[in-house]
Amino acid sequence: MDFQELVHSRRSTRGFAKKPVPKSVIAAIIEDAKRAPSSMNSQPWHVHVLTGRPLDEVRRRNMEEMTAGKPSKRDIFTHGPYQGAHRQRQVDIAKQLFAAMGIARDDKAMRQDWVLRGFRQFDAPVSLVLTYDRVLDPGATCHFDLGALCYGIVLAAWDRGIGAVVNGQGIARSDIVREVAQIPDDEAIMTCVALGYPDDAFPANAVRSERTPAEEFVRYVGFD
Ligand SMILES: Cc1cc2nc3c(=O)[nH]c(=O)nc-3n(C[C@H](O)[C@H](O)[C@H](O)COP(=O)(O)O)c2cc1C
Repeated sequence: MDFQELVHSRRSTRGFAKKPVPKSVIAAIIEDAKRAPSSMNSQPWHVHVLTGRPLDEVRRRNMEEMTAGKPSKRDIFTHGPYQGAHRQRQVDIAKQLFAAMGIARDDKAMRQDWVLRGFRQFDAPVSLVLTYDRVLDPGATCHFDLGALCYGIVLAAWDRGIGAVVNGQGIARSDIVREVAQIPDDEAIMTCVALGYPDDAFPANAVRSERTPAEEFVRYVGFD
């Protein structure tokens, strides 16, 4: 795919066809993504690729704990609930997704069902768990490096007709992911990317998220 077309057509996929993704294709995606820049070329990342029984086990236990109202257990520090403009954008994308899925504002059961889908990684056939070397905590620079890798994965997948969604909810219980996938203690779990062939009939897959006009967040200095 042409670069412009690739970037502008990509969107998060939250409904997947029941079709396995060959290991060789995942390996090729990672080969492309690992060309991402990283601070001092430190390449602080690890990718744990889960499918089949271990992934189902992560889904089941993550969903179970979160449904029981247990708090999430993340390795990385977080900022708490979004406020202001960030919150508004969060609400806007949720409205778009709920409208596409026909979920009414007051339909608590369906809203909960949607949240649970997130906790089970939208039933994707594959999950790439991204981690970094814990010696680099408290992060920041290595978080940035993993962001670059992550976008590379998502774009390289899309280029091959494979959909993905970066899925913080899927690793809300990072302790479970670590235990099931046997992730070493010297790695911190950053996020996961749920990945698979898109189910074209799944309404939320057609949602195109909005972006703020560039004039609102870009300044040009010294151009005139
Ligand atoms: C760090 C990160 C975490 C995310 N976590 C979730 C998630 O838990 N559930 C979800 O549905 N989407 C998640 N997303 C996807 C975003 O909602 C999505 O990228 C955003 O709304 C823009 O939409 P687009 O990817 O279709 O352009 C996450 C994205 C990022 C970068």
